[in-house]
Amino acid sequence: MTTSLVTGPTAGIGAAFARQLAAKGHALVLVSRDEERLGRTADELRERYGVAVEVLAADLATEPGIAAVEERLRDASRPVDLLVNNAGFGNRGTFLVAPMADELRMLRLHCEAVLRLTAAAAEGMRERGRGAVVNVASVAAFMPRGTYGASKAWVVRFTEGAAQELRGSGVRLLALCPGFVRTEFHARAGMNADALPSWAWLDADKVVAAALRDLARGRTVSVPDPRYKLAVALARHTPTRMFAAASTRTGRRYDPKNPPGPRTPR
Ligand SMILES: NC(=O)c1ccc[n+]([C@@H]2O[C@H](COP(=O)([O-])OP(=O)(O)OC[C@H]3O[C@@H](n4cnc5c(N)ncnc54)[C@H](OP(=O)(O)O)[C@@H]3O)[C@@H](O)[C@H]2O)c1
Repeated sequence: MTTSLVTGPTAGIGAAFARQLAAKGHALVLVSRDEERLGRTADELRERYGVAVEVLAADLATEPGIAAVEERLRDASRPVDLLVNNAGFGNRGTFLVAPMADELRMLRLHCEAVLRLTAAAAEGMRERGRGAVVNVASVAAFMPRGTYGASKAWVVRFTEGAAQELRGSGVRLLALCPGFVRTEFHARAGMNADALPSWAWLDADKVVAAALRDLARGRTVSVPDPRYKLAVALARHTPTRMFAAASTRTGRRYDPKNPPGPRTPR
């Protein structure tokens, strides 16, 4: 039986991963902070797909949260075959507006947790000669967009480097780089999602299906949808300064009714 551990499975892209992996018959380990919501998500998945679902409530922006999930991933008696590092968030405001504590929380969740959980999972996978890790980055990785874009650029480069270093071991790594996806992300970050044109939005289920296809094909970076493949190609060939202005204008429109500043709890 295949077991997959998904972080951030209670909403958006992580929920789509959990559903699609359960539909393929994977047993699941679900990790996020809200214990009650995790329990509800697990019940729905068990009922609908008849798979075993374990829950682990942990805040992956904290040391105890990361350590608890590392311990679960290192438990050789219950091996995890696929790790999806998906949990993430956007800050409520640009540089010097978002509080430093929130910037550091982001680096811990997007970088430290991804590094440590990938290592904890990949050690056992390498011993068994098989396994995979999907790290959810963003097209923002290819554009200057504050700490968010920088943290996602780290996710892409880290994943590419680790994939190269583990080549031939049976462990595959993929960095998933979606464009705008309708999830809870923008409301949580106080962004005005209505300011974006409808054609810019992707569907979480399609994004996840594309990622799983790219993983099976042995790709290391997945940019679902031709619109965003083009955007990434443009970003790579446009002077950074020009692209930075456009990227920040489109990607970080905050909701005037919910002004930028410290994060509201959850
Ligand atoms: N939506 C987009 O347009 C978009 C585009 C590109 C990339 N992404 C990336 O896709 C990933 C998923 O985003 P989404 O849009 O699906 O967001 P979402 O709908 O807001 O879901 C976020 C999930 O992560 C969990 N989470 C948040 N902080 C956590 C923490 N500190 N510890 C553990 N779990 C945590 C949340 O549950 P709890 O609150 O209960 O912990 C929830 O399950 C993120 O890495 C994001 O950066 C999103």
